[in-house]
Amino acid sequence: MKDLSPVTGFSKFSKEGKIDFLAEHLITAGDAEMIKSFWHENSELQKTLDEFSENTITNFPLPFGLVPNLKINEKLYCVPMVIEESSVVAACANSAKFWLNRGGYTTEVLGSTKIGHVHFQMDTTYETLNSFFTGHKDRILNSTIEMTKNMDSRGGGIKSLKLIDKTASLENYFQLELEVETCDAMGANFINSLLEHIGKYFGELLEESNYQNSNSYEVIMAILSNYTPNCIVRSQVSCSVDELNDPSLGMSGVEFAKRLKTAVDIARVDTYRATTHNKGIFNGIDSVILATGNDFRAVEACGHTYAARDGQYRGLTKCSIENKIFTLWLDLPLAVGTVGGLTKLHPLSKLSLEILQNPSANRLMEIVASVGLAQNFGALRSLVTTGIQKGHMKMHLMNILNQLGASETECILAKKFFEKETVSFNGVRDFISRVREN
Ligand code: MEV
Repeated sequence: MKDLSPVTGFSKFSKEGKIDFLAEHLITAGDAEMIKSFWHENSELQKTLDEFSENTITNFPLPFGLVPNLKINEKLYCVPMVIEESSVVAACANSAKFWLNRGGYTTEVLGSTKIGHVHFQMDTTYETLNSFFTGHKDRILNSTIEMTKNMDSRGGGIKSLKLIDKTASLENYFQLELEVETCDAMGANFINSLLEHIGKYFGELLEESNYQNSNSYEVIMAILSNYTPNCIVRSQVSCSVDELNDPSLGMSGVEFAKRLKTAVDIARVDTYRATTHNKGIFNGIDSVILATGNDFRAVEACGHTYAARDGQYRGLTKCSIENKIFTLWLDLPLAVGTVGGLTKLHPLSKLSLEILQNPSANRLMEIVASVGLAQNFGALRSLVTTGIQKGHMKMHLMNILNQLGASETECILAKKFFEKETVSFNGVRDFISRVREN
């Protein structure tokens, strides 16, 4: 390992300068050329991509795939997914196809408001502070009119403002909790600007009114919460157990339904399984979130908090079999936008939204949740029937063949051979060597 000395003014280096820095200390001249080979030939576009982040030196391409035939509320979607895990798109496409003639996915947005907090400390009691807050709430809300007028005109804006007593958890700790509707925007900047204003204005009101101990009022931070339990969507699939009969399952619809429900129930009670179960759901969710230029870290953080909302981390889907009707559903809080942020700035996220027929944020929530549910159904369908490795290894085989630079004929021969053999890197390499020797 090389020892690096601290570098100053790195962010001011040109792109070439940053690559030279790498070449001087960490990479080969060949690597430096490779970095440049990923630059987009359209320099205007490259500039746009560079400016999405800091200290950018090149682009990091990921596969952009499509899942056709996803039927949601009787409408067909072709869904763009950006993901590097080979079996994810295939599993989602299979689930979309499976449900296409079994009623498709039905969805409902159960709520769409987001929240944020001014976290502050003050040496006072909740009762006195709350009576001050209640008396001044209208003034606080009126002070935001200019900031919210555009959002108000789109049907959004502030829905509520509350004082919350947190002193039982931490000395002198209170919150001003703001609930907002941000329409088609994810709304992070809107919410954070409002919170910073409210935190400051509340302090000014305390001081102006000579509230006792007003000088102890200290805003610690003002920030939206990525946990959005009231911005939540449900997606579900449902059909009679007899309709589940499908030759590909290798068992009856009744048995399949029972095994799949048990798998869902296991993820509800076992944290180890719940983590993997939900990882599978987020395979689908993250890839649409990425494709549409949304914030996958926010969506993940929120989903996992929701999964642990009763104190135990649980699988996010639920399943029932009642009166011979099988139902699998996913309730998921999701804060997404179809305007603002990267959504229309990145040419490929703009394109993704176009492929999705320019959905509202609520419609995007429905699509994303359905992809998550499709992914879960696809994973469980494999797990409780053939096992996951059959499909995975087929995909893995292609990766190994690509790595070995196999020709089209070699790929065909390898796929046939490995239908009955276990796939491993060495096994495939030896097989290709044998083919090449003959
Ligand atoms: C792999 O990326 C995801 C799965 O492990 C999900 C699951 O087990 O439910 C297949």
